[in-house]
Amino acid sequence: MGFPVIRQRRLRASAELRRLVCQTKVSVDDLVYPLFTCPGKGVKEPIASMAGCFHFSPDRIAEEAAEVASLGIPAVLLFGLPEQKDESGSEAYAEDSTVCRAIRQIKKAVPELLVITDVCLCAYTDHGHCGLIKDGKIDNDPTLELLAKMALAHAQAGADMVAPSDMMDGRIGKMRSVLDAAGFSDTPIMSYAAKYASAYYGPFREAAHSAPEEGDRKSYQMDPGNSREALREMELDLEEGADILMVKPALSYLDIICRVADAFDVPIAAYNVSGEYMMVQAAAEQGLIDRDAVLMETLISIKRAGADIIITYFAKDAARVLRG
Ligand code: PBG
Ligand code: ZN
Repeated sequence: MGFPVIRQRRLRASAELRRLVCQTKVSVDDLVYPLFTCPGKGVKEPIASMAGCFHFSPDRIAEEAAEVASLGIPAVLLFGLPEQKDESGSEAYAEDSTVCRAIRQIKKAVPELLVITDVCLCAYTDHGHCGLIKDGKIDNDPTLELLAKMALAHAQAGADMVAPSDMMDGRIGKMRSVLDAAGFSDTPIMSYAAKYASAYYGPFREAAHSAPEEGDRKSYQMDPGNSREALREMELDLEEGADILMVKPALSYLDIICRVADAFDVPIAAYNVSGEYMMVQAAAEQGLIDRDAVLMETLISIKRAGADIIITYFAKDAARVLRG
């Protein structure tokens, strides 16, 4: 093998030789850029908790989508905000929801850009939980109907893939059968299969106004101490028909990414979440680190762990760095 030789002669190895033997390269093809759409017209509003990210109303989101596509990024992951929240999150599954309107705008303007949609109720419910609440508890099964309805509305509006992030039990199977029955058997499901109850979602919850009013998400999101449970969750989602499996967050869970990439033969996605993003942004802002170098090193670590797809707020910056 060439590696020991290179190591011994590291000081003399040329840039070309190092390039030749480098095991892990991040490409713009690996990246997904999250986008937030909000009600209203003409809105492009900076998100206070997430430097560099914006809320776009549907009529303005295509400009951003066009920029993302022009950088060579293959996909966006779309999140929406409702006009009004209620107990059952009814705007989430409305056919003319903000997200559905945004999908149509993007697909009209930039048809080649893949539009993936986040499927969950928490931004739409007045209590801020990902599922319906009954007697102070998550009401799993009735929630599945609503999530499937939401996924179908997105597919009908033109979404290329749906990404359920709710962590209810049985949601993938329910969604798959509803999509199939409506003629969307070609619409893949990317499951947030191993989603940990993480404090790294803080900035996002401000952006999506989706923090729970009461309690936390620990009854349905995973305990950070558990790794075998991640394999179990993924196995179940695969059986139910998931096409891509996701680990979220990424950086505190690189070992999980590594394990699931070894265990399953489907594409693995990792979500470099808002808190991970903002730690880098904040440190760079203070002049403590070299932002571009740290963001690229971060993405390489996620890919090296085994992720095929990286969802990151750094996608546009990484694309620019990769272009040189
Ligand atoms: C909604 C959802 C969350 C994120 C993605 N989808 C927040 C949560 O579960 O509380 C987090 C994304 C991020 O932090 O960047 N279920
Ligand atoms: Zn949620």
